[in-house]
Parts: sequence; structure tokens; C-alpha cells
Amino acid sequence: MGSGDAGADAEAAVVGVAPDAVGGGGFTLVQPTRKAMAASSVASLRGGRNFTAGIVGNMRTARVRLAALAFSFGVLALPLAAPAPVAAIGPLPDCRLDDIMTVPRDYDSWSTTLVDWLLRVPKSYVPPDLVPVSEAGIAGPGLIRAVAIEDLGAMTAAAAANGTPIAVNSPYRSYAEQVASFNGWVGVDGYEDAITYSQRPGHSEHQLGLTIDFMTLGGGSALQGDWSTDPSGAWMAANAWKYGWLMSYPLADNGALFSEATCFHYEPWHYRYVGREIARKIHRSGLTIREYLWRHHTMVDPETGEPIATPTPTPSPAPSPSPTPTLAATPSPVTSTPVATPSAAASPPPSGGEGGIDPLVLGIGGVALVLLATIAIVVRRGSPAPS
Ligand code: DAL
Ligand code: ZN
Repeated sequence: MGSGDAGADAEAAVVGVAPDAVGGGGFTLVQPTRKAMAASSVASLRGGRNFTAGIVGNMRTARVRLAALAFSFGVLALPLAAPAPVAAIGPLPDCRLDDIMTVPRDYDSWSTTLVDWLLRVPKSYVPPDLVPVSEAGIAGPGLIRAVAIEDLGAMTAAAAANGTPIAVNSPYRSYAEQVASFNGWVGVDGYEDAITYSQRPGHSEHQLGLTIDFMTLGGGSALQGDWSTDPSGAWMAANAWKYGWLMSYPLADNGALFSEATCFHYEPWHYRYVGREIARKIHRSGLTIREYLWRHHTMVDPETGEPIATPTPTPSPAPSPSPTPTLAATPSPVTSTPVATPSAAASPPPSGGEGGIDPLVLGIGGVALVLLATIAIVVRRGSPAPS
């Protein structure tokens, strides 16, 4: 068996590795149930198999004031077109292993960053706002992005109030921890099986710092059996979306353990935070996170691996950044991600003129016209009277 980080790898606990703090522990098999799961998932891959086992200030205020000032002079800027809606690549790519750098992947695009069998983030991807999960008042080890803390706390409290308390088994995992985890599973079951239940390094939602493998507070590992049949797991399956969390890898529509929609094995304990707004949309759509993000937010061509250029650049009186992003071989997640990618328009939270004229544009246009009018008046007053 390969060595690995058991604490950082809740999936390792599928075979009974004791839950531990991120970065701690060894890769220790307690119950050899993974092999059976892997076998069933591979069987699902090959022919389909029914599940039977229990398995988002000040700057904005200033902009609004500037716009208001321009309007108070009675000046109207020329109306500019609102940014067109952005359509992502569209059809869901078939399940295949690839190493395409996902777009968007800047840290502010956390809610719409997708990783799957095809898409990855770089080794250098380390969210800047990781904080202990305990800040949410939930028991368990490790870190999660601060953007998720408030809703994690609300969900934890609601689950406890319902008598179905939850705890953290495994949250954020670094790239290096995923290397150890994945290699450990390859050592147990072989590569072909391991890829069905453990993501290759760079492809794990745990590296996004937005994902937690949950368990029942005071209970055993959720990685044994079907946690969605446990009262806490059932509560999560029914209610987590209300708090911005979604089960990333549900059963296939036909009940198979391996889903062609997620390209992954069923994981009833594995939830990803996307924020309440997108979680609500995904929940209502009936799609999985992978299907929804590929359809609406993922801006990379799955065949060429190239980022999709902005389809309809927003008109602007000022020079704007190039809308044509380039894909570096191994870019850093912050600097390499094209800021002007359509992802900004596709993501719901950014401030500005989504669906209307940006107040800043109105302000600049208004002030410019006022200045021109003032200069014209001064020039006329200073000119000799016509003879
Ligand atoms: N097994 C989980 C999903 C991972 O490797 O990210
Ligand atoms: Zn997980």
C-alpha cells in the first residue's frame, strides 16, 4: 500500500482510515471495504449497476455618488449596452481524463470554478482565506475558505436544532495532500479503480477549500455505507442546498454508483459550497454541480483546452483589458486567470452594471460633458464680441 495522508483524505476513510487533522496521520486500512466499492463502481462504469448497498463598499458608494453628481448637473450620458449574457460551452463533455486548466479559476470566482475529470487547478492553487472550520462552530479538524464560514455555521446550527447534528471529517486538502491520497488509493486498488473514487491531484474539490466530507456528530465515519440513509446524512441531502452546499457526487439517475453526469462514484458525505444563490439555481435545475457549471459558467473548450473568448465585449469609453485570454501551461491561479474572461459576467455576485449601465460610466460621461460645457462657456465669455 502506498503512503498517504489519512487525515487529509476522508475518502481514505472509506476503507476505514481514521479521520484526522489535515496533514496528519498515516494511510491505514481498518476495514477493507473499498475494494468492493471500487469493483461496483467499475461495474457501473461498464454496464450500469443499481445501488443496493448502504453506501461576496466603499468604492461602489463612491461610484454611485459620482453618478448622482453627474445627474445633479442635469447631464445624461449616452446609454451604453448592458453586458450580454454569457453562454458557456454548452453540452456536457463526456467523461474522460484530461488536464485542462479550468476557467474561471481566480480566487474570487470560487462559486463557479469547476474541477472534474477533465478540468483542474494548478499545484499553486491555495485559497487565500482558509480558516479553521471551528470558526463555524462545527466539530472537526482542518480548514475551509472564509467565504463559506457563515453558511457552514448556519447549516451546522440548523442540523443540530433538528436533532441530526453534523461534524467535519475532511475539509480543505492541499495539492500535496491529494498527491499522497490519490497515490495511496492507487496502491490499494490500482489506477483504474482509484480514479473512480479519488480525484487526481489538481482535480479535487477539496483543493478549492470549499468542500467538506461530513459525518454525523458523535457517529462513526460517514464513509461506511450510505450516509444519506443516516438521519444526519438524510437531513443534509434534503437541506444543505438551502445553506449553499450541494452534494457533488450523487447517484446516477439510474441509481448506478458511478455517474456519467459527475464522472464520479457516489459520495453522500461529500458536499461543496457554491453559495446560496447558485446552490438554489442548481437545486431547482435538477442538475449536478458539474452539469450546471459546464452549462453556465465554465469558459473553456473541452476539446481544445483553450479558454473561450468573450463573445460580446462590453462597449466602454475607456480602454479596456484585452478580452482574449491566454492559457499558460501552469499558471498561478490569481495572476494567470484572465480577469476579463466572461466568467466575471457569468458570475452573479460582481458589482457594477450587470443588467444596466455601470454608474461609473455614467459618472465619467456626465463629468466630461459638464467640463466641456464649462470650457465652452468660459471660451465664449473670453472671446471678443463679433464686430
Ligand atoms: N474523493 C474525492 C471526491 C476527491 O478525491 O476529491
Ligand atoms: Zn470528499
